[in-house]
Amino acid sequence: MSDDFEKILYHDVIESIIAAMEAKDYHTADHSRRVGDMVLELCPLLGLSIKDTEEIHLAAHVHDIGKIGVPDYILSKPGPLSEMEWSIMKMHPVTGADILSHSSALEYISKIVKHHHERWDGKGYPLGLAGEKIPYGSRIITVCDSIDAMLSNRAYRSALTSQECKEEIRKNIEIMYDRSIAECVLSNWEYIVEGRKHNADNK
Ligand SMILES: [Fe+2]
Ligand SMILES: [Fe+2]
Repeated sequence: MSDDFEKILYHDVIESIIAAMEAKDYHTADHSRRVGDMVLELCPLLGLSIKDTEEIHLAAHVHDIGKIGVPDYILSKPGPLSEMEWSIMKMHPVTGADILSHSSALEYISKIVKHHHERWDGKGYPLGLAGEKIPYGSRIITVCDSIDAMLSNRAYRSALTSQECKEEIRKNIEIMYDRSIAECVLSNWEYIVEGRKHNADNK
């Protein structure tokens, strides 16, 4: 197989996975697209190569693919989740990584997806990894994922303002977020966050 053919095949596989997610849950697909857009702007500012940027960007597009395994009534519940529902929701990073791990070409992306809900202080999930033990791509997605969630309306709360969102990110440096990644986003906020088309009604 030529390199070009492999590249096209790789992208087509990702596109198919995204289409599967859109068929199941349009809100998650839309949220993932916005997170992917932010990641694409952010990675070069962090000094990452084109190849790494591309991989983390694709991982961002499919980071919530594991929600395919979460029942609809939980995904679309108009209010906070019960403890049991939350424990099912928290399985989505591992389910997503399992789906992607069937292709050896997607191994790196699978690992990033698995750890996108870890926290810098080790209190995240699924493994409770801390600090630099969390894959760098996952740490990047965590910041962008949080920003999109905070700027979105939920049934039980309105979207935060940009200023409130920035404050939350700043407060959680080295609690939830990698300092250098969070500070890079904060100092390039207009370019990374304000520039994208955000539909505040999406999850
Ligand atoms: Fe997620
Ligand atoms: Fe997400």
